[in-house]
Amino acid sequence: MALILMCGLSFSGKSTVAGRLARELDASLISLDAINEKRGLRGGQGIPLEEWAATNRIAHEQAATLLRAGGDVVVDDTGSPRFIRDEWRSTAQRVGARLEIVWVHIDAALQRERVLANRAQQQRPDVVDEVLADHAAHFEAPTDDENAVAIDARDTRDDSRIRAIVGTLRTRARSAAPSGSQRR
Ligand SMILES: Nc1ncnc2c1ncn2[C@@H]1O[C@H](COP(=O)(O)OP(=O)(O)O)[C@@H](O)[C@H]1O
Ligand SMILES: [Mg+2]
Repeated sequence: MALILMCGLSFSGKSTVAGRLARELDASLISLDAINEKRGLRGGQGIPLEEWAATNRIAHEQAATLLRAGGDVVVDDTGSPRFIRDEWRSTAQRVGARLEIVWVHIDAALQRERVLANRAQQQRPDVVDEVLADHAAHFEAPTDDENAVAIDARDTRDDSRIRAIVGTLRTRARSAAPSGSQRR
């Protein structure tokens, strides 16, 4: 079992990649934005910390239940700052699942371009400048010890890149699975 956690700034393409990975891996998808929406909250407009905490709790409970049932889960969250990833690491550990981080990186110029394009076309909910600035100021990229799988924001619709990530995740799952000689 694996808990695959997305990480990246708004508009990097986390949801785009999360959806693709969930499909390819036959995993469940948990979206913090979707939970917020169901609760009548719009994350992109800025919501109170205690509401984020409640949404976070719901997401962790859902993930733990799905992982305990033996499935893989893709979590579409911001995955930052680091303590957010550490909380997911604890949840994974608690149910005996591995944690994988998929980091979608975007530069500030491309992020701005996408934000403005979306404000014109309104293909997805906006994220207001104040929330964008706050996320960016507190963003903590995964460090080497976290062994994140990285993808560039420009490649999120690239089938071969997605397949490569799926391949990496499957290889890691195989090498982590106990084989006869390693079982204790
Ligand atoms: N590779 C890409 N090329 C161009 N636009 C993209 C690409 N990936 C995502 N987008 C667009 O960028 C915006 C942000 O993508 P999304 O997956 O919603 O990001 P996030 O979940 O990280 O906020 C969306 O409007 C999406 O359609
Ligand atoms: Mg998203």
